[in-house]
Amino acid sequence: MRADGFVKWTRRFEDERERRRAQGDPDWDRGAALPAAVWTSVQRFQVGEDGDGANLVGKADQAGDTDYGQAVRLFIAEEQNHARLLARLLAAGGLPTLPGHWSDTVFVRLRRLMGLRMELLVLMVAEVVALRYYRALRDGTDDPLTTDVAGRILRDEERHVPFHCERLHASLAELPRATRRPVMALWRLLLLAATLVVVADHGPALRRLGLGRLRFAGDVMTSSRTVVSAVLTPSPDAWTNTN
Ligand SMILES: [Fe+2]
Ligand SMILES: [Fe+2]
Repeated sequence: MRADGFVKWTRRFEDERERRRAQGDPDWDRGAALPAAVWTSVQRFQVGEDGDGANLVGKADQAGDTDYGQAVRLFIAEEQNHARLLARLLAAGGLPTLPGHWSDTVFVRLRRLMGLRMELLVLMVAEVVALRYYRALRDGTDDPLTTDVAGRILRDEERHVPFHCERLHASLAELPRATRRPVMALWRLLLLAATLVVVADHGPALRRLGLGRLRFAGDVMTSSRTVVSAVLTPSPDAWTNTN
């Protein structure tokens, strides 16, 4: 198991935690005003953030990868913080959070059956969609609190993607060389399917944020190319430096 390199990720996550502490929370008292369709969309993303990564710790530990396991715990804390930030944003707009949907429960159970590699591939789908979504939310509104919250989440997601790329690279290196590209091609298909569900579900919100469905889907698929090459090439971490 190639575990080298994850100490630096732990350090990055810790630095970020410190930065977060020093910065403090957004100014919730200013309240938030968004179009109804966008609120509905934020409510759904809030539920998703709540579960992200929860299965990962056990699998990382099982893989016997201590450094990675530590970084994963910090990663999950960031995802939980996203759920908290979005819940506070909803509250600032006078909206409740949604209870978990049955499909989330099914999804979580399914993910429990997966190994680390499959879990990361599925999680990466959510992360890549999230990247485009939070950018749209940050840039598509003139509500200052929403822009602040979405900007904070986006910064984290921009770190999560190369983090998963690096671990997936090690995971895929355990497979026969000839299968690696096909695996990532299947991953892109899975991403496309998930993106189509998201644009169907969140289309009205995206439109209010100034983004057509097609443009959203196109941007997600374009960004996935960087992910695929970062997973397949020997030094995926090089990708981080471009951010
Ligand atoms: Fe997140
Ligand atoms: Fe994330």
